[in-house]
Parts: sequence; structure tokens; C-alpha cells
Amino acid sequence: MNIKNEIYEILCEAVKSLGLESDGLSVVFSSRPEICDYQSNFALVLGKKLGKKPIELAEEIVGQINAQKVQKSNSKNVTKIAKNAEKFEFFAAMPGFLNIKIGEKALSQFCEETCHDKNLGVEQVKSPRLIFFDYGGANVAKELHVGHLRSPIVGEALKRLHVTMGDKVLTDVHLGDWGLQMGLTILQLKEDGFLDKFFEKNAKNAEISLENVTLDVLNDEYPKASKRKDVDEDFKKRADQFTLYIQQKKEPYFSIYKKIRELSVAEIKKNYELLNCNFDFYYGESDASAFVDKTVKIFVDKGLARESEGALVVDVAREGEHIPIPKKSEDEPQRYKNPMPPAIIKKYNGGDLYATTDIATILMRNKDFQADEIVYVTDNRQGQHFEQVFRCCKLAGISPENQKLTHIAFGTMNGQDGKPFKTRSGGVVRLKEVVGLLIDKARGKLSANGIVGDDDLARKIGVGAMKFGDLSNTVEKDYVFDIDKFLSFDGKTGPYIQYTVARINSILSKAKNEKNVQISGKNCVFSIQTPDERNIALAILKLNSAYQICYEAYSLNALCLATFDLASAFSGFYNNQKILAEKDETRRNELLSLCFLVKACLEKALWTLGIDSVEKM
Ligand code: ARG
Repeated sequence: MNIKNEIYEILCEAVKSLGLESDGLSVVFSSRPEICDYQSNFALVLGKKLGKKPIELAEEIVGQINAQKVQKSNSKNVTKIAKNAEKFEFFAAMPGFLNIKIGEKALSQFCEETCHDKNLGVEQVKSPRLIFFDYGGANVAKELHVGHLRSPIVGEALKRLHVTMGDKVLTDVHLGDWGLQMGLTILQLKEDGFLDKFFEKNAKNAEISLENVTLDVLNDEYPKASKRKDVDEDFKKRADQFTLYIQQKKEPYFSIYKKIRELSVAEIKKNYELLNCNFDFYYGESDASAFVDKTVKIFVDKGLARESEGALVVDVAREGEHIPIPKKSEDEPQRYKNPMPPAIIKKYNGGDLYATTDIATILMRNKDFQADEIVYVTDNRQGQHFEQVFRCCKLAGISPENQKLTHIAFGTMNGQDGKPFKTRSGGVVRLKEVVGLLIDKARGKLSANGIVGDDDLARKIGVGAMKFGDLSNTVEKDYVFDIDKFLSFDGKTGPYIQYTVARINSILSKAKNEKNVQISGKNCVFSIQTPDERNIALAILKLNSAYQICYEAYSLNALCLATFDLASAFSGFYNNQKILAEKDETRRNELLSLCFLVKACLEKALWTLGIDSVEKM
């Protein structure tokens, strides 16, 4: 049952039977829910077009619908209006609004159908597509920090949203494991004496273990090397050379590289598991390396690449972009307006770059999967990179014309001061540290509620709080990371939704233990009677339409809001309504059924957001 469609059809039929065109008619949720549930401003539009008073038109339309309702009983030829109109009440309001209120019976029917539908009424996409998601993007040998939080949070939720809507999905973490950081780390380790055994004559690289190189060592060595490369030109050149050796699979560099990668990836996986992120593939840039030569050849053969200062570049600018600004003097650097610089696909020394592996990865993915869309989730500083990569792939035919390439660029997670989240001393905050902080706080709150020693529950709540806080914002916006606010058990937070689910669990289990009533999806019965129950049914309707809104916008904020609205509608109902104490058994079952439905809808929304539901809290 699609309530909005039914209303739309009734209005269309009425408009047409008045001899008018129904083009442009639309129905939306009411902006004044205290008056009605849906509204249409079609009479206002039509009035303007026909030079007629909108309110008169609105009254005519409503009159037409009401007349048909009356006729229904006498006619065999039942029209849509007649069939469905009695579910709704239509009325005209100044200056020409068409207002619609859903009848209680229709709402009860809606709840029943939603409860019995395997998708809980979430409308599925008409033609399911295969979407390939690329998110996470951790870099091997570099420790994950707060800057790496949003990609897995947003990426995982977007992926799940597509699953909820009926698409097929594949996911790849796309590790950064082929770039300069690898050469830098190995050079630094070598200088600090960690790799002596590998460089001995006749060393058997495969058998040598990375003794003493722990994660802690890596976490020290990379930042050290990274700082040094900015001030020491020679060091940077040698690191470039080491990186090239790895890319050429030269020994002992490649063996050392593989060992570091293994150590680092095990840790990365743990971090993603902590965040409920599951990937189909743990591929990295290195996995595309087998496709790099072929990729470069395509550009060369098609005449799309040219040499520039020893590097190989592809011009991707379109007319009007990348316009040189005339220099005022000879030694002034060349500057550009509307810059869209060429993409560099081979470095001066023959090494691969970020763009190279990304283009080769698309070649590799398309060989295996031919997704209808590839979605990348990274911070917004990578906009130009992806634009270049996408254009390269389209120019070279590596991505077919009908394949959509999408970059979802998120904003920064800021501290309370509005600046990127840092430690007290201004340092980078490690991802594990932030998540740990949230989990600790969640643990503290739980123990205040008398729940002690449940680490898994603390994790679910801490991580849920963080995710809900993040996803409540539009993806592209920066937002303030406010741990206390996110973790509040009251308000627009993850824990509040989880708490609502837990509360319903407790009602349902009491029903079972005290009243011997076991509510399951199958035996639910619905009868919407009070305004509180209406609010719940309407909140479910809105929640279901929020999935569609989010699907189109690649953002989860509307879903967070609608989930909260449902939880808070439930709260109103719970506070005003006796449920278990209700004496009438049928009525009690109806109320319990509504609890069951709310729980199912909240759990589905939480799952989509990548947040765990909890049994109790
Ligand atoms: N490793 C990259 C970074 O840390 C993110 C990778 C994103 N995905 C991609 N295919 N480029 O910024």
C-alpha cells in the first residue's frame, strides 16, 4: 500500500473528471501536521494558470471526490476515487491548499501491511543495480587517525542503504599500500638498523622475520620519515627510489614491504571490525599494479598521453578550464584560472602515482564485475583527484559510458573550537583513541544504570553514538564532534534510539513472561486509535520515505532524523498509554503489535546506519 500514490491518483482522477489537466500535480507530507497529514498545492498552481481563484478550484476538486464517495454504493463501475477515497479525508484550505488526512482504518491497514512486508514497507528500487563501494582507504604503515573515521562511517551506511533499497553491492577497502609512505617507512627502518639482516649478503628474505618491528615501531618510524622528507631533499629522493624498488618488486625491498603490509593490515582490519565495517575485498593499490602497464599502454596507444618534464600526463581539462594567467615577469611561476591540471600517470622516475593505481583499479574492477556505478567515499580534498581519474577513464574507454562514477566528498570532523579535531597538545588523534574514549564513556554511563562489565554493549553504544552523531549531518558539511552530546541517552542520538529498542524488548519480554503473549510478526494485529498511535504510524510512513530521500542524496541525515522522530513518537505513546496493564486482551495485543512494529522499523534503520541494536541497556 503506497498511501502517497493512492492520494495522488485520487486527486488526478478528480482533476481530470473536472475536465482539467493534472500535469504538475504532486503530493507531499504536510508542513502542518497538526492540521493534516499530506498536502498538495496543485490548486494554487492551477489557479494561477487558469486565472481562477485557487480556493474555488480546491473546493471543486474536494467536492468532486466527495461526490464520488457517495456514489460508490450505487455503482458497479467503481472508480479509483470511489474505491480508495474513503480511506482519506480531503479538505480545501485558504488560500487554495488541498489538505489530506488519513483515516484510522487506512493507517491500521498500512501498519499491518508494513509489518508483514519483508522489507517493512521500504520501497525497493525498480531495477536493481550493482554498485561497487570504495571506502575505508586506510594507508598501510600509517596509523589510522580521526581523519579516517568518516569514510568507513559514511561508506558503510551508504552501502547498507543500497542493500536496504534492493541494489546489489560490492565493497573494497582500497588500502593505500603502493605509495611513497612505503618507501619512506622502509628507508627510515633501514637507517635505524631494523633491517640489517635483509641487507646482508645472500640473505634469504622470505625466511627473515621482521624482528623488533612492531606496530608501535611503525607508528614512530613513518611520522619521523615523513617530517624528514620535507626538509631533506636527498632523503626524499632515496625514499622515491625505495618506493620504485617496491613497485618493481625488487628484493629485499619487496619482501620487507610484504611483511610490513601484513602486520599493518591485521591492525587495520581490527579497527574496521570495531566500527562494524565489512568489506568484500581487502584489496589495495598494490593489487592494481598488475594492470598498470596495460593501463598506461591504453593511454599511449590512443594518443591521450604526453610527456611533461619526464613524467607522463593526460590532459583532462575541458574548454574553459585550466587557463594560463599571463606572467608579469619571467621568473614568476605559471599560474592558472579554473585549474584542472593534467593527470600524472607516470612519475619522472617511472614510478606509479595515486592516479595511476586508481585508474588501473577501475580497469581491474571492470574486468571482473562491470558495476553500474562505482562510489568513492573520501574527504573533500580529493575532489580534483577523482575528477581527473574519472575523466581519464572515460576518455580512454576504461569505464564504459553508461557506468556512473561518483565521488562522495565529506567535510571535516571538527573539535569544539571549530577546528579539525586534535589532541590537547595539538597532535593528531589516533582513531583507536577516539573510539576508545567513546566506549569508556558509554561504559561509565551503563554502570550508572547498573550494567557493569558488558564490554560488547559498551562498544555498541559508543560506536553507535559516534556514527549517529556523524550521519545526522549532511555528508559534505564539516561538523563538530561533541562526545557528550553524541552519547546522551536523551535527544537526537544513537543511544536514544538504541534505548527505545531496548525498552520495547523489555515490554515484549514482560508480555511473554507475565501475560503469556508472544508477539511475532505473524500474529500482529493493528487498530490505530489514539493521536499517539497515529503519530507512530505517520512516523513510520515518513521513515520509509526517508530511505528514498537519502538514496537520492547520498546522505543519511534524513534517515537519522526520521528514525529519531519514530523513537520519539514511541516515547509519547509509551508515556501516555497503559500497555501491559490494558485489561482488554484484543486491545492489549494491538498495542503490543505496534510496539513490535516500531522495534522492527528502528532496528532496520539502525542496521542501515551501521549501528547495532541492543537487547537491553
Ligand atoms: N588511501 C587514501 C587516503 O588515505 C584513500 C583511498 C580512497 N580510495 C581510492 N580509490 N582512492 O586518502
